[in-house]
Amino acid sequence: MNFITVESYEELSLKAANLIAAQVILNPKSILGLATGSSPVGTYKKLIEYCQNGEVDFSSITSVNLDEYVGLSGENDQSYRYFMNKNLFDGININKNNTYVPSGCAEDLVAEGKAYDSLIESLGGIDLQLLGIGLDGHIGFNEPDSFFTKETHPVDLDESTIKANARFFEKESDVPKKAITMGMGAIMQAKKVLLIANGENKKEILEKAFFGPITPEVPASILQLHPDLTVIYSKK
Ligand code: F6R
Repeated sequence: MNFITVESYEELSLKAANLIAAQVILNPKSILGLATGSSPVGTYKKLIEYCQNGEVDFSSITSVNLDEYVGLSGENDQSYRYFMNKNLFDGININKNNTYVPSGCAEDLVAEGKAYDSLIESLGGIDLQLLGIGLDGHIGFNEPDSFFTKETHPVDLDESTIKANARFFEKESDVPKKAITMGMGAIMQAKKVLLIANGENKKEILEKAFFGPITPEVPASILQLHPDLTVIYSKK
């Protein structure tokens, strides 16, 4: 594991964007696994800058996102599809037909999960997976549990996740209680994993996840077993 501590969110975003840009330049047909939330916003801003300056070309890139809220369509401004369009895809030259987010509106979410895993498999797996980490140690929406789940699957969000994500909604009761998330299988099979986290409040969970025992009670701890993991943390 490569654990990098930096001084500012700006530096974190620059480093993360440079790693992703390098991946895209070295393999313009890369499959990128992407995350939403506040952590990657600065990284995505940098990537947009690189693309608009003509330094990085995303035209042959395919992306697969980690998760989506159940019941929110892509037009809903709280959906993760909407977030990705707004914070990254609309600013770069990626072909939107090659950007995938699991559907939170599928009637059969288990079948949607299976189809999503088949899609990832048919793409040959993920080359680089970008992750944030929840205060309870979740990655994607793989919440603490007594076991790790391999497949893309529907989940009930933890109270702490609902509380943490309420900042994006008008009121806490608006936060969806369910999501669909990529499982640990596709994440762990990614060739490279890059996890970014910032803020004092993430320090404790990072210590548990990367310097404590590997347990499904701290889902991100499974990443200790990944052969190519980079974690970038900034206190601010
Ligand atoms: C988002 C996701 C989540 C977030 C995590 C941290 O697609 O999968 O695991 O990465 O909740 O969120 P932020 O970055 O908002 O602290």
